[in-house]
Amino acid sequence: MTHPLNLLLVSRRKDMLDRLEQILVAADFNPSLQLNSNGHVDPLHGVDSLPDVVIVHLSHLWREELEAIAARAPDRRPALIVVGGANEMNVMRLAMQAGARDLIADPLNPADLLQAIQRTQEERRRPAPVTAARISVFMNAKGGCGATMLACNVAHVLAAKSKRRAALLDLDLQFGAAPLYLDLYPKRGIAQALENLSHLDEVALDGYFAKHASGLNVLSHASDEPLAPGTISASAVSQLLEVTLRTHEHVVVDMPRCVDAVTTAVMQRANQIVIVLQQSVTAVRDATRLIQWLRSDVGVAKDQLCVVVNRHEKSSEIGVEDIQKTLACNAPALVPNDFKTVSECINSGTALLDYAGSASITRAVMTLETRLGGSSAQPRSSVIARTFSSLIPGRSR
Ligand SMILES: Nc1ncnc2c1ncn2[C@@H]1O[C@H](COP(=O)(O)OP(=O)(O)OP(=O)(O)O)[C@@H](O)[C@H]1O
Ligand SMILES: [Mg+2]
Repeated sequence: MTHPLNLLLVSRRKDMLDRLEQILVAADFNPSLQLNSNGHVDPLHGVDSLPDVVIVHLSHLWREELEAIAARAPDRRPALIVVGGANEMNVMRLAMQAGARDLIADPLNPADLLQAIQRTQEERRRPAPVTAARISVFMNAKGGCGATMLACNVAHVLAAKSKRRAALLDLDLQFGAAPLYLDLYPKRGIAQALENLSHLDEVALDGYFAKHASGLNVLSHASDEPLAPGTISASAVSQLLEVTLRTHEHVVVDMPRCVDAVTTAVMQRANQIVIVLQQSVTAVRDATRLIQWLRSDVGVAKDQLCVVVNRHEKSSEIGVEDIQKTLACNAPALVPNDFKTVSECINSGTALLDYAGSASITRAVMTLETRLGGSSAQPRSSVIARTFSSLIPGRSR
C-alpha cells in the first residue's frame, strides 16, 4: 500500500528528481515532482496547495532557493528537507532560517533520506504548538479607497474587543497618518528604531511604540519630513517585523500602494493580504493588476487574499459578484458607505468601536477582524452551552 504522506520533490536536475523518486517509490511513497528549469528560483513557485513535506535538492542557486522559502510566513511553509551542501556553514545557516528539519549530504545515502522523512512524520504527529503570530497587510487597490481607516480600526478591534496583543505598523513612510486616526502623536518611530537595528530587540522596540488606551501598539514614521523612497531596506523592515512578532499575537500593517522590495518582503511574510477597493472601474482594474502581481511574482496563494469592497453601495452599477468574478477571488468582505461617521472619527482621532460601537460600519469592521483571526464578531455561546461546557470534566473556563 502506498504511504498517504503528501511529498513533493523539487530539483533543477531531472536525473536527481528521478533518483529521489526511485528511492521514495521503493519505500512505498508516491511523491509529486517539480522540475524547476525556468527562471524561478522559489522551489515552491506555482505550488498552490502545500504538501506535507517538501524535499529540495539545492542547485548552484541555493542561496536564492533557501531565501525564497525563508521569506514565507511560517504557516505557509511545508516541512522542509534539504539535500545538498550539508557541510557548508552558510547553507546550514540559511536552511535553518528556512525552517529545514533536516539537511542531507549529496551524494545521497537513501537511508538518511528515509530517516529524515520518518523524523518529520513523528514531528507532525506531535500536538501543534501554540499558534504563531499573524501578520495582516492592508493595501489600497487605488489611492483613497480606505485602507488606512480599515487597518487602524481592525487593529483597534483586535486589541480592544478581542484582547489580542496587537500592533499596527504604518509603513507609509512618506504620507502615513495612522497614529492620527487614534489620536496619537509619537515622538519616535520607525526611522529611530532602525537607526539602532543591530541592537533592536523586543525591549528596545517597545520604547518606539505609541500606546493606545486599548492596548494597541502603533509604530509609524514619527516626523513631518517624509522619508525618501529607498531610505529603508527590505531587510531592515523584515527585521523590524520579526522583532514586533516576538511580543505580539497579531500585527496589522498599513502598506502604501507601491510595488518594491520592501513591499515584496512584507507581503511574502504576511499571512493575509487585504486588498481594499471601491466599486469603480479603475479600482477594479488596479486590483486586478495588484492581485496578478501578488499571485505570480510574490507567490501569494488565493486563500491568503481578502478583498474588501469599501463604501459598498447595493445600488452601484458594479456589483460584488462582478468584482469577485473579475478578480477570481473568494467572496469579498463588504464595508458600508458611512461618510459622516468615518470623517467624524478621523477628525476626532477616535476609533469606530469607541465612537459608534453599534453602527453598521463598525459591525462590518468587526466581521472583517474576525475573518482575519480576531473574535469580535463571534457569537457568545449561550448560557446553556456554557453551563454544559463547564460540566465536562477537565474543562475550566
Ligand atoms: N466606509 C467608508 N465610508 C465613508 N467614507 C469612507 C469610508 N472609508 C473611507 N472613507 C473616506 O475615504 C477617505 C480615505 O480613506 P483613508 O483615510 O483610509 O485613506 P487611504 O485610502 O488609506 O488613502 P491613501 O491612499 O492616501 O493611503 C477617508 O478620509 C474617509 O473620508
Ligand atoms: Mg493610507
